[in-house]
Amino acid sequence: MITQETIQQIISRIDVIDVVGSFVKLKKRGTNYMGLCPFHNEKSPSFTVSPVKEIYKCFGCGKSGNAIGFLMEHEKYSYVEALRWLANRYNIEVEETAVSPERLLQQQAAESLYILNTFAQKFFSDFLWNEEEGQDIGLSYLKERGFNEEIIRKFQLGYSPESRTHFSQHALKNQYNPELLQKSGLVVFRNDEAIDNYRGRIIFPIHNQTGKVIGFGARIIKKNDKAPKYINTPENDIYVKSRILYGSYFARQAIDKANECLLVEGYTDVISLHQAGIENVVASGGTSLTVDQLRLIRKYTPNLTIVYDGDGAGVKAALRGLDLALEEGLNVKLVLIPDKEDPDSYVNKVGATAFREFVATNKKDFILFQLEVALKDAGADAAKKSQVVSQIAETISRINKTEDFTKQQDYIRQSSEILKIDESGLHNLVNKFIRERIGKEEKAQFQQDQGPAYTEMPPDEVFADEQTDSFQLLYKDEQQERAVVRALLEFGLKEWDETLKVADYFFSENVEDDLFDNKQLLNVLHLYKQWYDAGKEPVPKDFIYAEDRDISTLVVGLMDFPYELSDKWKEQFDMPVQEREARYREEVEGTLNYLKLRKIKRLIDMNQQDMARPHSLEEQLTLMQTHQHLKQLEIELTRRSGTVIVK
Ligand code: UTP
Ligand code: MN
Repeated sequence: MITQETIQQIISRIDVIDVVGSFVKLKKRGTNYMGLCPFHNEKSPSFTVSPVKEIYKCFGCGKSGNAIGFLMEHEKYSYVEALRWLANRYNIEVEETAVSPERLLQQQAAESLYILNTFAQKFFSDFLWNEEEGQDIGLSYLKERGFNEEIIRKFQLGYSPESRTHFSQHALKNQYNPELLQKSGLVVFRNDEAIDNYRGRIIFPIHNQTGKVIGFGARIIKKNDKAPKYINTPENDIYVKSRILYGSYFARQAIDKANECLLVEGYTDVISLHQAGIENVVASGGTSLTVDQLRLIRKYTPNLTIVYDGDGAGVKAALRGLDLALEEGLNVKLVLIPDKEDPDSYVNKVGATAFREFVATNKKDFILFQLEVALKDAGADAAKKSQVVSQIAETISRINKTEDFTKQQDYIRQSSEILKIDESGLHNLVNKFIRERIGKEEKAQFQQDQGPAYTEMPPDEVFADEQTDSFQLLYKDEQQERAVVRALLEFGLKEWDETLKVADYFFSENVEDDLFDNKQLLNVLHLYKQWYDAGKEPVPKDFIYAEDRDISTLVVGLMDFPYELSDKWKEQFDMPVQEREARYREEVEGTLNYLKLRKIKRLIDMNQQDMARPHSLEEQLTLMQTHQHLKQLEIELTRRSGTVIVK
C-alpha cells in the first residue's frame, strides 16, 4: 500500500491540465481549457478542463472526474497504478506501508517475472531482426504471411532459435535463477539440464493492460503433427489465463473511440486487423469467455462483437459464455467469417474496407443467432422445441433488467416471431424466470442483512392533491439532497456566527440518516463529519481525490464549473458561485430546511396512519392536535425555504 503521506504529496502536485494535456490537445478558453473528448467521437470540442476546480467534464458524453479518475478512465489504470503514473511524472518517491511477508514475496515473484519476460522479449526480438537464423526463418515467415515491419515491431514479435539452450545459457549468464526460469515457462528442465521451451518458434509476447509482458505464445513454423501448434506460458503469479485478452493494451483507445470491441480467436487475427487499421480488437485464445474477460471488456464498452470463423469449434465455445455476457450488461453481436477463412486470412484477402463493411452488414444478434441454431437442431421434435423455448426465455430473463427493459421486450417480440409462438406466452415464461431469480437473490440478501431495509415511499404523497408526477418529485428530492451536501462542502468552513462554523451549525441540526434516499450522498456527509470531528478541515478537493471512486465522481458532479463556461451550463444550473457565496448562510439554512420539511412530512404521514386506526376520543383529539401542529410547522418551513431551495 502506498502511504498516506505519499498520496497527499502526489495530490498536492497534480496539475490537471498537465495530466489531461498529455493525452488530449487542450486550448485555453476563458478560465478553462477545452479539447476534443477522448471518450467519444466529436468534431467540435465539448471536453472541458477546469484548472481551478481540478476536474474535467465533457458536455457531450457527460464523463467527468479528477486527474486520477482521468487516468483510470483513459488509461484503464487502477487507482494505485494512476498514483504511480503521477508519482513517476512528478518525480515523487513512492513510500509503501509495510506489507505482509507473503504479499511481499508474491510481489517480488511477480516483479522478477516481469523483468525476466522483458529480458526474454528483447532476446527473441533481437534474434528475429539481427541473427541470420531469425531473419531467414522467423522474419521471412512473418513477412510471407503479410505482416509488415512496423506491425512486427509494434507487437514486439520475436523468434526463438532452434538450438536447445541458446536462451537458457543467455539467461543463466545474466544471473536469472533456474527456479524463476522454470516458473516463467521459458525454460524446462530435463535431468537438471535447462532447455529452451520455445525452440524454433515465432514468439508472440502477451501484454497486460498497462503494456507489461506477462507471458508468451510460441507458434510452430515448420509443419509437425506431433508438436502442438502453440506453446503457451504456464499459469504463474502474473500469467492468469482467465484474465487475459490478447491485444487489449494496443486496443484500449480504439475501443473507447469506436465504443465497440471486436473479439477474435487468435493472435494473428488481432495483428492482421491492426495492420489493416482496425484496432479495436482483442483475442480470447479460442476458449470460452470468462467473467473476468467479460468485465475487462465491459470496462471499455458495452458493445461486444464476436468475429469468428464460420465453421470453427470456436463459435460453440464462445456461445457457452453468452449468459455471463448478458449478466455483465454487454450487447453481444456475432459475425461469422465465410469460406473457411478466419479474420486474419479474410482481411488479407478482401482488404480493410471490405472487411469493415462485411462486419457491419453481417452483424447478427447473438441471442437470436443462438435461437436459430437451436431451433434448427430441434427440427420437428416437439419436446426439443419446447426445451428451446424454455432456454431462450431463461436467456432473455438474464438481460440486465435495470439497464434495459425495452431491450428485453424487443427480444421477446423477435424470438416469438422466430419461434412462431404467442408473444404473451413467452413473456410470461420470461417473467417466471425473473421472479425465480429475484426470489433467490432476495433470500440471499435477507440472510445477509440484519433486518429488512426500511425504504419509505416519498411522504410527499400526502400532497397527492397537488397532482405532481411522482417521478418528478423523486428527482427533485434528489436535487435537494445534493444541494444540502453541496452547501456543506462549499461553505462548511465559513463562519456561521461568532462562535460556530457552518459545519458546527450543520451537524448540530441533527440531520438524520434516514432523511437521505441517496446513500452515496450520506457517505459524503459521514466522511465529512468524520474528518471534521478529527480536527481536519475538509475541502471539496479532499473528496474529489477520495480513493472511493463513487464519492469522487459524486462530488465532482456536485461542484459546478464557473458559470461563464457555456450557455448550456448556465441554463442547467441556478446561480453563479459568486452569488451563492454572498448568501451562503441562507443557502445552508434553506437546504437544511428541506430536510426538516421532509422529516415533518414523514411525521405527518405516520400520524395520519395512526389516526386511521381505532382510538378513544381523547386519543383521537391528541392525534388531531398533533396533526395540526405539524401542519403548522410544515407551512412555516415551506414559506421559509421557498426562497432558497434549489428549484
Ligand atoms: P488458431 O489455430 O486459429 O491459430 O488458434 P491462429 O492464431 O489463427 O494462428 P494461425 O493464423 O493459424 O497461424 C486460435 C488461438 O487459439 C490458441 C492461440 O491463442 C491461438 O491464437 N491456441 C491454438 C493455443 O493456445 N494452442 C494451440 O495449439 C492452438
Ligand atoms: Mn489463423
